[in-house]
Amino acid sequence: MANDKRYSVVIAGGGSTFTPGFVLNLIQNEDKFPLRKLKFYDNDAERQKKIGDACAIIIKERAPHIEFEYTTDPKEAFTDVDFVMGSIRVGKYKMRSLDEKIPLRYGVNGQETTGPGGMAYGLRSIPAILQIIDWMEEYSPNAWMINYSNTIAIVAEACRRFRPNSKVINICDMPIDIMTRMAQICGLKDFHDIDFNYYGLNHFGWWKEVRDKKTGKDLMPELKKYVAKDGYWVGGDFDKDTEASWEETFKKAADCYALEPETLPNTYMQYYYFPQYEVKNANPEHTRTDEILEYRQKIVFGECKRIVEEGTAKNNMWDRNAVHSEYIVDICHAIAYNTHEKFLANIPNNGAIANMDPDSIVEVPCYFGADGVQPMATGMAGRFQRGMMMEQQTCEKLVVDAYEQKSYDKMLQAFALNKTVPDASVAKKILDDMIPVNKPYWPDLK
Ligand code: NAD
Ligand code: G6P
Ligand code: MN
Repeated sequence: MANDKRYSVVIAGGGSTFTPGFVLNLIQNEDKFPLRKLKFYDNDAERQKKIGDACAIIIKERAPHIEFEYTTDPKEAFTDVDFVMGSIRVGKYKMRSLDEKIPLRYGVNGQETTGPGGMAYGLRSIPAILQIIDWMEEYSPNAWMINYSNTIAIVAEACRRFRPNSKVINICDMPIDIMTRMAQICGLKDFHDIDFNYYGLNHFGWWKEVRDKKTGKDLMPELKKYVAKDGYWVGGDFDKDTEASWEETFKKAADCYALEPETLPNTYMQYYYFPQYEVKNANPEHTRTDEILEYRQKIVFGECKRIVEEGTAKNNMWDRNAVHSEYIVDICHAIAYNTHEKFLANIPNNGAIANMDPDSIVEVPCYFGADGVQPMATGMAGRFQRGMMMEQQTCEKLVVDAYEQKSYDKMLQAFALNKTVPDASVAKKILDDMIPVNKPYWPDLK
């Protein structure tokens, strides 16, 4: 390794359902990214304690050299850290549920990060993320923030406008998940074995090229044949823990691919290509949030409780299944050791997609190193893709306009312009239902 430094990390949103898996991942990958300190920060002390007490046991058993604490005090949390992980959900699952259910009342797609729900969530996240950046810069001016708190496209636009010089990198795991599936389909191990060219916006993009990293072999023909039939669904042992709604999503990629067969789509395109299908397929009384509360959240908190009661983390569920956040450790490694490894990031375009505006926030391959991210030139977007992106990124910019100007009209335009919303009168109904419930989080829109 290039240096023998050990790192200090704080997870903002310590009470996240992904935290224990991420902690196990960090510990398992200490050869890549050695730690001296790990802290959790959350603004919900009770929720964080449940996760924090279990993680204290995990760390004591597996990596006692790591100093661990959890806190709700920003000064304590953000002092003496090298990396801040952004994993917050402003308004928690209670608000996600409303983001999903309010649009469905009016026959509009109800989803965490797409359509009106995604824009509502983005508007909630902006002030909280800006505040975390400010604390990081005040208490640990040399630190990097790796943020995956959604809605990433909107958060990244807010960072571009309001904190242009801050050391924040906004990332997403969906393309990593899909590339892991591509590797499986082609008989490779995981995303590390795949080289790629990809462009788009967050949760809105396309692969132009997929190759075997070792041999350079073009994998597109084989993948296209597979995706046309089965989407990104692998099945078997690989998918034994995949929930039913995710199975549908991976399979639906076949229909998305059929619409634009020159590239391979991100699974999130389903919400923009087939909004009516999504609505028909949804149960307005029981959305993805309900599934999470009944399944993931229950399992995660149940497992944490068991660890605390038994006083040991032996045979915990994450030992078997902690791959989800491995790429985040890889990203920290790339920055810490200046490796210039390639991952996707959401950044101002500045030419990365030749025919998009310089100030568009785009998701493109970047080389990660000590100086942050250097985007790769991805070439020209197709006419179809460019049209789609222009509309979607304008919605994302309008949400940030709404935040900046406290403007009702801008938020309404964002909803009305969106591909998932059929009519401006429907946009208004959704917005008017969302305003009172978002009062604690949104600016007072006039
Ligand atoms: P979760 O609801 O389980 O946990 C989020 C935590 O954030 C909660 O403990 C909550 O109390 C805390 N929180 C909320 N507002 C806060 C604030 N202002 N300051 C500090 N803490 C705050 O959420 P989750 O399902 O684990 O997801 C966490 C985040 O990661 C979400 O934004 C989710 O959308 C995102 N996510 C992103 C990706 C990606 O690809 N970018 C992948 C998975 C999850
Ligand atoms: C993917 C996306 C995330 C999103 C998550 C939702 O991982 O990249 O941005 O938050 O899916 O998954 P969930 O299981 O919470 O519905
Ligand atoms: Mn994502």
